[in-house]
Amino acid sequence: MERNLLAGKVAVVTGAASGIGAAVVARFLAEGARVIAVDLAAPGPARPGVVPVTGDVASAGTWERVAELAATEFGRLDVLHSNAGVVVRAPAHELAEDDWDRQIAVGLKASYLAVRACVGLLAASAGDRDAGSVVLSSSVHALAGLPGHPAYAAAKGGLISLGRQLAVEYGPRVRVNTVLPGPILTPAWDGIGEEDRRRSVAGTAARRFGSPEEVAAAVTFLASQESSYVTGACLVVDGGWSAVKDSA
Ligand SMILES: NC(=O)c1ccc[n+]([C@@H]2O[C@H](COP(=O)([O-])OP(=O)(O)OC[C@H]3O[C@@H](n4cnc5c(N)ncnc54)[C@H](O)[C@@H]3O)[C@@H](O)[C@H]2O)c1
Repeated sequence: MERNLLAGKVAVVTGAASGIGAAVVARFLAEGARVIAVDLAAPGPARPGVVPVTGDVASAGTWERVAELAATEFGRLDVLHSNAGVVVRAPAHELAEDDWDRQIAVGLKASYLAVRACVGLLAASAGDRDAGSVVLSSSVHALAGLPGHPAYAAAKGGLISLGRQLAVEYGPRVRVNTVLPGPILTPAWDGIGEEDRRRSVAGTAARRFGSPEEVAAAVTFLASQESSYVTGACLVVDGGWSAVKDSA
């Protein structure tokens, strides 16, 4: 259901080639935005309204390019959705230091690098009541532990604190909020077996996976003026997974 919520806006979306990021790009375009789409993966076919950037979100150089592009190509930046992610799986006693570092770099540090490079443009593009908007992608892994995910949980938990901090730091010209998706059926689930999938779905009140488009709807709300008085907040998009008490 599009309502031109982002007409005239320019947005950066990371992890734009797959899953939730791809759905956010599609929804932002449908809402009238132009999008700088960042991913490690090579961009697909050219699309009107999309400027692709191939790069690593954990590298400061990528963010210099993105900010430069926003300034020269569009002369403004209104929305930043820091969404790219990887999942490193291993219990702490078996986790290689390099894997820990990579998880924290992509899952946490990248959002700091993104804001460092883009917050000046976001603030400069804001109007009196029309703040720039940053949306960080955390996870319900920030709320509850699942064996084998210490680095992922640490990165996603850190994003919640970072989001609150940035909201305080950069208000009123820039709002910063964090989404916490639950089980969303994307390519990130490709290697996960049937039994784990069944248990994840059974743990939701909705009794199903969420779709990338359902997260994109929440991100669009936070990106747009529909959420003009929402900042420093967390929005859980998990089909009720974190509301379910599954033991006596
Ligand atoms: N799918 C879920 O169930 C779920 C649940 C909670 C949170 N999340 C979070 O949502 C975000 C998107 O997840 P998804 O399920 O769409 O994943 P996905 O694997 O479908 O897509 C992730 C995208 O990020 C890109 N990417 C990875 N590392 C990158 C890097 N260093 N630089 C640039 N791009 C990079 C990948 O190339 C890929 O296109 C992630 O942050 C993930 O942790 C997903």
